[in-house]
Amino acid sequence: MPPPPRFTPEFRDDLATLLAWRRDVRRFRRDPVGEDVVAQLLAAAQLAPSVGNSQPWRFVRVRSAPLREALTRHVDGEAARAGGAMPDPGRRAAYAALKLHGLDHAPEVIAVFCDDETEIGGGLGAATMPQTREWSVVMAIHTLWLAARAKGLGLGWVSIADPAAVTALLDVPPAWNFIALLCLGEPEEPHVVPELERLGWQARLDGGANVSER
Ligand SMILES: Cc1cc2nc3c(=O)[nH]c(=O)nc-3n(C[C@H](O)[C@H](O)[C@H](O)COP(=O)(O)O)c2cc1C
Repeated sequence: MPPPPRFTPEFRDDLATLLAWRRDVRRFRRDPVGEDVVAQLLAAAQLAPSVGNSQPWRFVRVRSAPLREALTRHVDGEAARAGGAMPDPGRRAAYAALKLHGLDHAPEVIAVFCDDETEIGGGLGAATMPQTREWSVVMAIHTLWLAARAKGLGLGWVSIADPAAVTALLDVPPAWNFIALLCLGEPEEPHVVPELERLGWQARLDGGANVSER
């Protein structure tokens, strides 16, 4: 077995920088992401923790142009519906002005599902909380997100979709629960401030704001 690595102070600083610069990206350059890079990112995601080591993430690379167009149309429709349902006209207008995905132009689109019927891991840990399988998939996405940023790539998480519609469009097994559509590619511009904060929709809270003690 190799000796455990020693993480240097410089590495810790770099990690803090990576976390600060991760960003959700919706505007991409069109340069393709190399196949080797996609493979490395998916391999990084595979290192994520999962309940019972069930590794229930299922990644579907959307390579077909008609499928990508169908997904884009679907998400645009759902976004319009969600925006239209907002009671406050000011908020509605602000929502309509947001860019909520890069599905139409990101070089890589990956749909992510959770296999709720996987036998891997023997169900360990998920008996009382089956949703832990989905949380495991989210861990894998976050791992991929950070690994992508470390390579100078941006990732955008798109959730404005009807799971049943995405599942049908991509023709995946019924036991696969839809978790996310991911857009991946080089960001048009790097930013340290979240887009929703820059556009005045919602700022990031201060560090301790979500922490309490009992
Ligand atoms: C579960 C989840 C779903 C999200 N869905 C969307 C989405 O549909 N469209 C979008 O533009 N951003 C989406 N985001 C990105 C958030 O808007 C973004 O993470 C948040 O504004 C903070 O910005 P940051 O990720 O750049 O720090 C999603 C993020 C998460 C974690």
